[in-house]
Amino acid sequence: MAFEAAAAKAPARRGRAGVPRRVMDPTCGGGAFLLAALDQFVARGLAPVDALARVAGHDIDDGAVRATRQAIEAWAEREGVRPGDRPEMDVRLSDALTVAVEPGQRPDVVLGNPPFATPLRGDGLPESAHTLRLEHAELLGPYADLAAVHLLHAVRSVMSQQGEEGEGGVVAFVLPQSLLSSRDVAGLREWLRSSAPTTHVWASDQLEFEANVRVFAPVLSVGGTASTTQTWAEQVAGALGVPHVDLDLEHGTLADLATATAGFRDEYYALAEAVGEESALGTGHPRLATVGAIDPLSFSWGSMPLRFAKQAWHRPVIDEDRIPSAKREWFARQRQPKVLLPTQSKIFEPYVDRNGSVLPVTPVISVHAAAEDLDRIAAVLLAPPVVAWAHRRWFGAALAINAIKLAAKDVVTIPLPPDRARWDEAASLVPMGPAALPEIAALMTQAYRSDDSLLRYWLDRAPISGDRLSE
Ligand SMILES: C[S@@+](CC[C@H](N)C(=O)[O-])C[C@H]1O[C@@H](n2cnc3c(N)ncnc32)[C@H](O)[C@@H]1O
Repeated sequence: MAFEAAAAKAPARRGRAGVPRRVMDPTCGGGAFLLAALDQFVARGLAPVDALARVAGHDIDDGAVRATRQAIEAWAEREGVRPGDRPEMDVRLSDALTVAVEPGQRPDVVLGNPPFATPLRGDGLPESAHTLRLEHAELLGPYADLAAVHLLHAVRSVMSQQGEEGEGGVVAFVLPQSLLSSRDVAGLREWLRSSAPTTHVWASDQLEFEANVRVFAPVLSVGGTASTTQTWAEQVAGALGVPHVDLDLEHGTLADLATATAGFRDEYYALAEAVGEESALGTGHPRLATVGAIDPLSFSWGSMPLRFAKQAWHRPVIDEDRIPSAKREWFARQRQPKVLLPTQSKIFEPYVDRNGSVLPVTPVISVHAAAEDLDRIAAVLLAPPVVAWAHRRWFGAALAINAIKLAAKDVVTIPLPPDRARWDEAASLVPMGPAALPEIAALMTQAYRSDDSLLRYWLDRAPISGDRLSE
């Protein structure tokens, strides 16, 4: 992919169309990427001896450098390049982040699988990475992954040849998917969108490598023009099969109808202080809702035990009198009718609390609106196009690859559907509860003028049984 991208960039400048001038792996390990590059050169018609002159690698590990050199020697042997004819091999023991590349030796393709490491403390990075991060503190925050520092360095090293040799180049790195949403890399992501737009993305939904991380590999066109306005998260979501859906803002957003809030730690502790079993506190108190107790249009309180504050509860209720005075206002607001929305699920799972009798525990989001709009809000959250849209938009933010995580402030950015009649029809079914879910989803797919592929995507993800779907 990186070869194709490099070829597409400026074939005329190279001796042979579609063949990069120099491919570098700055953290080459055992040399797997360089061997693949050598094969690609030959596949594109270069003589093996010429291919050998076009690859270069670095590693800080002596054993890795030796392994790469041996692997390349073995490749040359297999390809019949006699030892005396082989060009000097440019595979060096060096720190990729400090090594100076001589003019004329600059790569136009940088490939790599850099080390990943999330610093547990701000700037718990190796010395050279720490220095580089500080130089670019506007792009990389203190908790930026080490892989992001290597990426920035690679892009900059290709960039610096632009004026000098007249063209940009391509960088293709394997990166941890945490870079899709990490706040400490937000500046870098933004900068790359204009300086080195992503032309292709490969992604895996499996845990890769010993480090047990999910990875993706963007191909960046340094100095190129963007062919898409999609973010990395959206591109990776697309590569992993999340359907693409454009929702326009012409018809407004949930912010026109509602506000959304989620409690923080203080609210959690206030509830932990005030919780008790209904059998002890008596009836009429608000019921406690955790993420696990809410499913789409249903609330399992009383029928299933729930865990809260390291304890199992059967019918947990909140004693208003034990809520600290500093939290009274928050508490009073939660006693209003609202839609409750747990986060980190595969579809959105709204539950309408019609009389304000449910007290949500963080991270359940409360969506407050006029009583007559609650069912319409639930219908929007159940719309398959909305789920796909949100899944792409916030891809990688949730702990599980398939889950969707969004914050209270994000909920109100959800666009409203264009077809009001279908939307109202779907909303009228919300009081029927879970049995109406498939019909609501079908109507809301139409309300957003989307097609059945979105409905199928939603049905595949919905925690509702096949029996219920065929009812
Ligand atoms: C995940 S491995 C690369 C694997 C390689 N792509 C392969 O196919 O074998 C990462 C490599 O980066 C090297 N490394 C870590 N920090 C480095 C640095 N600052 N400069 C150069 N190499 C580095 C490590 O020694 C390790 O060999």
